[in-house]
Amino acid sequence: MANNVTVTRVVNAEEMAETAARRFALICETTIKTKGLFNVALSGGNTPRRLYEILGQAPYVTRINWDKITFLLGDERLVPIDDKESNFLMIKNTLMQNAPIDERNVLRVYTDLATPGSCATDYELTIRKHLKVKDGELPVLDFVLLGMGPDGHTASLFPGTDALKETSHISRANYVAKFDSWRITLTAPVLRNAKNILFQVSGEDKAAALKEVLEGNLNESLYPAQLLRGMKGKVEWLVDKEISANLRQSISNSSAGVR
Ligand code: 6PG
Repeated sequence: MANNVTVTRVVNAEEMAETAARRFALICETTIKTKGLFNVALSGGNTPRRLYEILGQAPYVTRINWDKITFLLGDERLVPIDDKESNFLMIKNTLMQNAPIDERNVLRVYTDLATPGSCATDYELTIRKHLKVKDGELPVLDFVLLGMGPDGHTASLFPGTDALKETSHISRANYVAKFDSWRITLTAPVLRNAKNILFQVSGEDKAAALKEVLEGNLNESLYPAQLLRGMKGKVEWLVDKEISANLRQSISNSSAGVR
């Protein structure tokens, strides 16, 4: 496995969230110390909920310099902002519930524009403006939180979908046939450009995909999380003990409890 990729086994969901919170705080503080600002793309779905709750509590809620952070969403479902499927709503009800975050620092996807394509274009323009990214260039995100589905998707880069082929845009609308729904997602080139990526993956149903993504033959269309192979930034996978059992490669154990 490449030397910038580490796999860390955690005992349970709580330890996964606590470990992720420690990583977030360390990378955030180090980045703010060196460049004065920090940008992070938050993942959606269910796994990161507990992490976001922990970040909104002691010690993190007072330790983190929230005003220096720009938050992006790694992806969004094309649903109204008050829909239970909305990733922004999930983040609002967890992280933003207690952390003193100015909503103007959260670059969210406006999902009520005319077409999926216009939602993606609007999101891209918002990112270009806030992160001062010139046309033709891609943002270098300091930290990207990601999950992975049982089919090996990450963000909303699903197997066999159009967005997998995107090479220059920051965000793309992506029709996901299996859900018969549209998603807006950061693209693989943006994810690959990140300085740090942290995956949180738990659940037996993801074991086979995880093994293919980490150790299988290259097949990015079938296992989109493989699109992050060979990137320059640091990639850490937090995986629970059940699904890491059948991995060949070396796995470290999380040092839980060290804040
Ligand atoms: C989403 C996520 C998606 C998620 C995986 C894992 O919008 O659903 O961005 O990529 O990370 O589907 O989801 P769970 O954490 O709910 O298993």
